[in-house]
Amino acid sequence: MTSHSSASVSRRTFVLASAALLARPAFSAFPAHASAVREYRLTAAPGRVPLVGGEHPETAVWAYNGAVPGPEIRAWQGERLRIVVENKLDEETTVHWHGIRVPNAMDGVPHLTQKPIAPGASFTYEFDVPDAGTYWYHPHQRSFEQVGRGLYGPLIVEEREPIAVDREFYWVLDDWRLQADAQISGDFGNMMDMSHNGRIGNTATVNGRIRETFEVRRGERIRLRLINAANARTFALDFAGHAPRVIAFDGQPVEPHAPAGGRIVLGAAMRADLVIDMTGKPGERFRVSDTFYRGLEYRLLDLVYAAEPLRDSPPDAPVALAPNTMPEPDLKAAERHEVAFGGGMMGGMMTAMMGGRRMDMREMMQNGMAWTVNGVAATGHMLDPFLTLARGRSYLLAMHNDTAWHHPIHLHGHAFRVISRNGQPTRYREWQDTVLLSPRERAEIAFVADNAGDWMFHCHILEHQAAGMMGVIRVA
Ligand code: C2O
Ligand code: CU
Repeated sequence: MTSHSSASVSRRTFVLASAALLARPAFSAFPAHASAVREYRLTAAPGRVPLVGGEHPETAVWAYNGAVPGPEIRAWQGERLRIVVENKLDEETTVHWHGIRVPNAMDGVPHLTQKPIAPGASFTYEFDVPDAGTYWYHPHQRSFEQVGRGLYGPLIVEEREPIAVDREFYWVLDDWRLQADAQISGDFGNMMDMSHNGRIGNTATVNGRIRETFEVRRGERIRLRLINAANARTFALDFAGHAPRVIAFDGQPVEPHAPAGGRIVLGAAMRADLVIDMTGKPGERFRVSDTFYRGLEYRLLDLVYAAEPLRDSPPDAPVALAPNTMPEPDLKAAERHEVAFGGGMMGGMMTAMMGGRRMDMREMMQNGMAWTVNGVAATGHMLDPFLTLARGRSYLLAMHNDTAWHHPIHLHGHAFRVISRNGQPTRYREWQDTVLLSPRERAEIAFVADNAGDWMFHCHILEHQAAGMMGVIRVA
């Protein structure tokens, strides 16, 4: 687990110190001020990692630089990243920088924004990071299998004026469908997963390991960056005995607040930054559980208090983050478009368009399709845009989930404000890049279409995406 210790040193110092500690070569000279370009290398290849631990054999995975999650990519807000990606898999791949507002050609969508990276080949991504926050990277080629086998990693953009905390961590959450021999079940892309909940696993990991405990100290303030890298699972984390405050969703600052119902709900691909004050006593133990699926609650790990307190009570420094750089949508002038999500079992959908032909649900499923955006089931990434937006204008998308399932809907190249749910204005008008729609839920999102190009708009349950719940929005 990444840990940055900074009780008595300034944050800049601790970034340097922890870089040495963690022996991450890219960090050996992490400067406080903008450098020309910050470089990383990612090699996607088969590997083996001790996911389960103990007596269990290592698990064969696909990984970046041999690790799950892949290496932490970190930059200061406003810097430029250059990332050389080498493909040592037996199939094509790409890398998508989820949530970063990159130029279209750097977005990593096969065929739509680049030629996929062939086995043995490499591709260099280079882009500025305009906004601070918690992001992640993953392939966009056959992602239901490539992400599902372990290809993903955290991408963290530091604020220029960080908030004061004692320690900072990320937890990349995932769930795996493992067999008794600790190997990944090979049933990727089966129609049962595709047409229902997606590939829900049986083994949850935090930063690529089953964790039993996480050590904390009384009186310390922790910033915890949560990243849901699972194919399909929604997590709802409950920190018993603690009162976490959400300070960012999907990397974007939000007014600090206690999450509704006390749980942090993250659909696939979503992130949240939390500030948690450690108010327990030395030696105490508290359970962190995932309570999203009724009847399937489980303990993720225990927070365990060290014998030595850090201080008597947590600091009361402000925790609000400075805003990022997205332009504010003009809601009065915004052009409104309806987007309907359909399909799936128990959805009542009768027919859909696929490859220019009308099909019924049975015929669709024989073709591996189960879901639609505005009545169309998408095949592949080379799609005619279902919406064309004028660059620089404000838009409001009124989305309806006409299905019996949850869908975390992601827009590339932009962040949007979630302005209402089921007709009620949202309290925080949160900026996000992925919004979780409950069954039958309606939500309105608004943004300025300021990034030119063809952008994917899709469900981040990767089986739903592969089975048609995907479309392209053009900004021209
Ligand atoms: Cu996280 Cu289209 O992807
Ligand atoms: Cu979905």
